[in-house]
Amino acid sequence: MMSDRLFIFDTTLRDGEQVPGCQLNTIEKIQIAKQLEQLGVDVIEAGFPISSPGDFNSIVEISKAVTWPTICALTRAVEKDIDVAAESLQYAKRKRIHTGIGTSDSHIRYKFNSTREEIIERAVAAVKYAKKYVEDVEFYAEDAGRTDNEYLARVVEAVIKAGATVVNIPDTTGYCLPEEYGAKIKYLVEHVDGMDKAILSTHCHNDLGMATANTFSGILNGARQAEVTINGIGERAGNTSLEEIAMILKCHKHLNIDTNINTARIYPTSRMVSSLMNMPVQPNKAIVGRNAFAHSSGIHQDGVLKNVSTYEIIDPKEVGLDDNAIVLTARSGRAALKYRLHVNGIDMEDDVKLDNVYQKFLKLADKKKEINDDDLLMLAGADAAETH
Ligand code: KIV
Ligand code: ZN
Repeated sequence: MMSDRLFIFDTTLRDGEQVPGCQLNTIEKIQIAKQLEQLGVDVIEAGFPISSPGDFNSIVEISKAVTWPTICALTRAVEKDIDVAAESLQYAKRKRIHTGIGTSDSHIRYKFNSTREEIIERAVAAVKYAKKYVEDVEFYAEDAGRTDNEYLARVVEAVIKAGATVVNIPDTTGYCLPEEYGAKIKYLVEHVDGMDKAILSTHCHNDLGMATANTFSGILNGARQAEVTINGIGERAGNTSLEEIAMILKCHKHLNIDTNINTARIYPTSRMVSSLMNMPVQPNKAIVGRNAFAHSSGIHQDGVLKNVSTYEIIDPKEVGLDDNAIVLTARSGRAALKYRLHVNGIDMEDDVKLDNVYQKFLKLADKKKEINDDDLLMLAGADAAETH
């Protein structure tokens, strides 16, 4: 049986980068975009170009640096935003404009002081305007999670008729229950005319810790694009994490839904984003947390030693984690250090740089029994800061 394809839309560089204190410069964004390309994401949302010249420039440079994934720029349903987005995407080999407007009664009343009818008109006008520049236009119905389904279906139908190729149904406030979010997607699939001309996309926030469950429920009910971030970073409690969705679908093959994600690149990508954004990953984070594959209780260790399947549902190698991790101590050499840096997404080909980090490593290793991955990232980060 042919499997269904789920498109992975990564918004680490847009929604993820909205986290206070996690701002990246253009060079760092290019580094992450190239890593995302290797990871196999279908779409990279590279920024919100009207928001700042820095964001605009990053989209231009990412468009030049990346070949395969579609590059996407976010706008409000405002002509000037769309003009600037189109300009920022001029070098992209595949390009998408992501425009939209709030559709919940709360947004319509308090953000726009408007009416439901007028919001539909503005949504349609924005999609038509974006279509003048690009073929691939995604529309977001902000706060769709709290928008009533009947009205939402009218909005979705109107924007598809106007030419939207993808329609994003964000649970902007992370309010929905998985059942409710899944039912919303199902309602749209069943009630919108023209649904064969567009893909529905999930975009779930994690305020109640349900972003992944909601996204998964949306996929089971017909959404075929998932908007995600590495390590689940994003506004407030964050977005759905890419690694969780990719591994759920990989572990549950009977669902017959595939992604293009090369899962062996997940761990290095996670470490790269964590280190460049200066945002540690919680130790018990699913898939990429330090303890995600660590067995500490005696009963579990005993079981795993007898047969790893007793307590492990994923082979750590599948996500790029070498379980025979070399433990770094004061007796380790440069080769071991270089290898462990590589596992953490840092390739240190320059011998002088490697030696600098190695000298720092030896000093720390004299004080600590073992140097863990967080220590390594701190050492590499300190070295990069000194040499800039
Ligand atoms: O959460 C949200 O609604 C968004 C939109 C701008 C897509 O990030
Ligand atoms: Zn969002």
